[in-house]
Amino acid sequence: MTRIVVLPGSWRAGSVNLALARAAVAAAPAGCEAVLHSIREVPLYDGDLETASGIPAPVRALKDAVAAADGLLLVTPEYNNSVPGTLKNAIDWMSRPPADSARVFAGRPVGLIGATPGAGGTRLAQGAWLPVLKTLGTQLWTGGSLFVAGASKVFDASGRLTDEKVRELLEKYMKGFAEFVAAARRGG
Ligand code: FNR
Repeated sequence: MTRIVVLPGSWRAGSVNLALARAAVAAAPAGCEAVLHSIREVPLYDGDLETASGIPAPVRALKDAVAAADGLLLVTPEYNNSVPGTLKNAIDWMSRPPADSARVFAGRPVGLIGATPGAGGTRLAQGAWLPVLKTLGTQLWTGGSLFVAGASKVFDASGRLTDEKVRELLEKYMKGFAEFVAAARRGG
């Protein structure tokens, strides 16, 4: 069984990215277990806090979850044509201390999807993640991509995916990403 941590960059009640993350968990193919994790309890990065009391417990829990999994799926919102500070802050904390960053990120298969109510579908945010993921030494899956545009029409008021075309694209993405993660696990 391959295991994937799914990390949405928004946790608000009506979040389209949380809805997409939940749909991604449900779309994981047979032989792949995807588990939703939250960045909600992660504090703002503060070097004084790190020096005084080390890595906060919610960050340690996220790091251990990713390190124990075979792959990481980021579900990114787009803020001001770039990555959202919320998710970037969590990833920055998770890269601390530098000596422990490789355990979490180096060689880690990473997938990247996202949703916006507007027309872009997080194209700019996903592009802006590239230098971050490269710096961390992850293996970004580039065999597929998913930009969910017009997301307020793709999910219903309760966050359920109702657009069959997007469901098809999401299932295709999850199948391809899960195969990539499984191959990396086998060392292939
Ligand atoms: C946005 N939004 C946005 N959308 C977009 O397509 N391109 C952008 O550059 C931005 N910029 C932006 C900045 C900030 C500060 C906010 C709060 C929002 C709109 C954004 O896509 C929309 O609010 C989404 O619904 C946010 O994701 P969640 O919370 O629904 O997952």
